[in-house]
Amino acid sequence: MENELAQYSPEELISEVKTIVSNQGLNEEGFERIGNLLHKLASRSDLKSIGEHRGKGVNAVDSYVLYRDDEPGGPIIILAEFDKPTKIHNHGTWGVMCAYEGREKYKQWERTDSGDDPGKAELRLITDIVMEEGDIVWWPDVPNDIHMQDPIDTSMWQLVLMGRNTLGGDEEHYDPDLGLRWPADIPPHMRSSKTRG
Ligand SMILES: [Fe+2]
Repeated sequence: MENELAQYSPEELISEVKTIVSNQGLNEEGFERIGNLLHKLASRSDLKSIGEHRGKGVNAVDSYVLYRDDEPGGPIIILAEFDKPTKIHNHGTWGVMCAYEGREKYKQWERTDSGDDPGKAELRLITDIVMEEGDIVWWPDVPNDIHMQDPIDTSMWQLVLMGRNTLGGDEEHYDPDLGLRWPADIPPHMRSSKTRG
C-alpha cells in the first residue's frame, strides 16, 4: 500500500482534479477533495528529484515544476521553497497548497470592494493559521485569491497546485492597512510564457 501511494504521480493527480472540477465545480467539497489528493502526492519524499528545476521565482527562493499542462492557462503544480515572508499577493487563479517540509504562518484575505478603483483594494482577513507538514489550505478564484506565507523555520517547502498557469502574468501586491494594491515587481525574464514567474 505504501508503495502504491509512493507512486502516485502529478499526472494522475491532475487527471483526478480535472474530473472533480468538471463534475462539481469549485465548491468547498471540491477544494477539500483536491486538497486530499495533494496531500497524497506530498506523501512522496522524492518530489524534488522528479520535478523540473525552475529555481527562484517572484516569492520563492527555489522551486521545481512537477506538472505543466499542454493547454495554455491549464493547471500547474510547483514545489516551492520560502525562506522569508512573502508580500501579500494574488495569483489570478484559484489554488490548493500542502505544506511539504517545514512550517509556516499562512494568511488569506477576501476583497470587500468592487475592484473598480485602480490601485485600491479593501481586504478582510479571513484565515490566519499555522501550517504544519501535511496541512492543506486553498484559496478561491479571483478576486479572493489573496494570501501570504511566512516561514516559521529557516526554510519551508510548499506543494502548490494552481488552477491556471498565470505565473508571470498580472500578479499584484497589497497593503490591507493602507487599502492599496499595485503590480507585482516581476523581473522581465520571469514573464515569459514558459512560466518563469
Ligand atoms: Fe502564493
